Amino acid sequence: MNHIQTLRLEHDTPAALYLLACTRLAYLVAVRLVLGAARHAVWQTRRRIKRTWPRTARRLGLTVEETIRSWIASPGAPISRRVLIPSIRAKREPWGVRVELRTIEGVGLVEIEKVADHLADAWRVPIVRAEQHKPSTVTIRALLWDPLTTTTDSPAVSMDGRADHAVASWLVGTDQDGRTACVKTSDVSGIVVAGLAGYGKTNLLDNRFAALAPSDRVQFAVIDGKGGPDWDSHAPRCFAFAKDSPEQAHEILCHLHNLLTARQHLIRDRLGVKNLWETGPSQSWPLVVLIVDEAHTFFYETKGTDAEAKQRDRIARESARIIEELVRKGRNVGIQIVLATQKATGDAIPTKIRDNCQVAISFAQRTSEAAIAILGTDITQYPDAHPRRLQNPDYVGVATLVADGRPGYTLVRTPKATPDQNIQRLARQTAHLTADPLTLLGGTEPSKATS
Ligand SMILES: Nc1ncnc2c1ncn2[C@@H]1O[C@H](COP(=O)(O)OP(=O)(O)O)[C@@H](O)[C@H]1O
Ligand SMILES: [Mg+2]
Repeated sequence: MNHIQTLRLEHDTPAALYLLACTRLAYLVAVRLVLGAARHAVWQTRRRIKRTWPRTARRLGLTVEETIRSWIASPGAPISRRVLIPSIRAKREPWGVRVELRTIEGVGLVEIEKVADHLADAWRVPIVRAEQHKPSTVTIRALLWDPLTTTTDSPAVSMDGRADHAVASWLVGTDQDGRTACVKTSDVSGIVVAGLAGYGKTNLLDNRFAALAPSDRVQFAVIDGKGGPDWDSHAPRCFAFAKDSPEQAHEILCHLHNLLTARQHLIRDRLGVKNLWETGPSQSWPLVVLIVDEAHTFFYETKGTDAEAKQRDRIARESARIIEELVRKGRNVGIQIVLATQKATGDAIPTKIRDNCQVAISFAQRTSEAAIAILGTDITQYPDAHPRRLQNPDYVGVATLVADGRPGYTLVRTPKATPDQNIQRLARQTAHLTADPLTLLGGTEPSKATS
């Protein structure tokens, strides 16, 4: 005992304390230099969490006290009390620290969620989130940065076979844990992307284009309702291309309708199946992706009474009818329509089209009505993922969607598209793959433009 006291006294001398502080500082500076600022912050947070856990758990009531009786069941047997603290394992992640907590009776997900803000204060991190994926383990995420507000770059364009995999599954981006989020694109004939102007719709479609362009199993048609230069660079890789001219857009739609009719006639004879997705798209029978950016442009009717207005309105109705038919019937013959629109409400895009699209992706929305129009009423049960929450410049490029294999709605940070000159280069490099899918069928041209 005396020996211990003497040691303590020695440590308490100013020189010893000074030496201890210097060593500690030198250690921390060295770690910071080796790891860099970001990883150092993660390292420090993990250390703090592990070091302070028993105290934090006690203070926040994340413990259970129980009475232990001696196994000798006699009236005078000693009774003792013990405090159970859930055990934790802390793991460093690029965004912060993942804590796996072993639950005990009385301390589980609900209790952790109640004190999440206090945990954030104790661990000195801005956000703490908890969730449970398996029995007896609660995953607590101490986030130093919100992955959703950190811009990410699009992956390098893959010129090898990986582009073919992208045909059936679209890697849209990363979720709030930095995990990849995909949507299934096989057996899909319609995809709607909605959101306020400037929040990342065209950027997202650019990503999709870049992922698919190197595949000879995909052919593109683009109609750009905005009419600006957004899609000019993509043109060499498109078998059909139009800007905001309703007449030209209508012409492309008629051509695709011919393709639909021809493929419907030929699919069983040529492929031996009733659904293209049973065998998957091929070079001679590619997936046809029609991208219609600012799609609401083509559905707008002026309701004017002069001859020109009537003609324009007729074209708008006809275009809406063809798109509706392509979305309804295109799935098994490999035709996929991707519509981007600012609003997905009935006044902007016919509900018959919208409601038949299997995939819906929403960037920021101003009203609940607009969010429900695109994502359905279920979104009201997921306030955290509601697109109204995304009306902030930090959330440009963040969308809400139903991700493949995940329950409910997931917020996803989409990567910033590859620069325009790269898209231009990609489109030129892959231009030799461009072919009209109707010609690929062997020149089968049904006589009627539309049914
Ligand atoms: N995922 C993203 N990451 C970072 N910035 C983005 C992202 N998406 C869009 N942006 C920025 O927002 C701007 C507008 O995006 P855009 O796709 O044209 O919007 P929209 O088509 O919805 O009007 C882009 O020029 C880009 O600077
Ligand atoms: Mg746009």
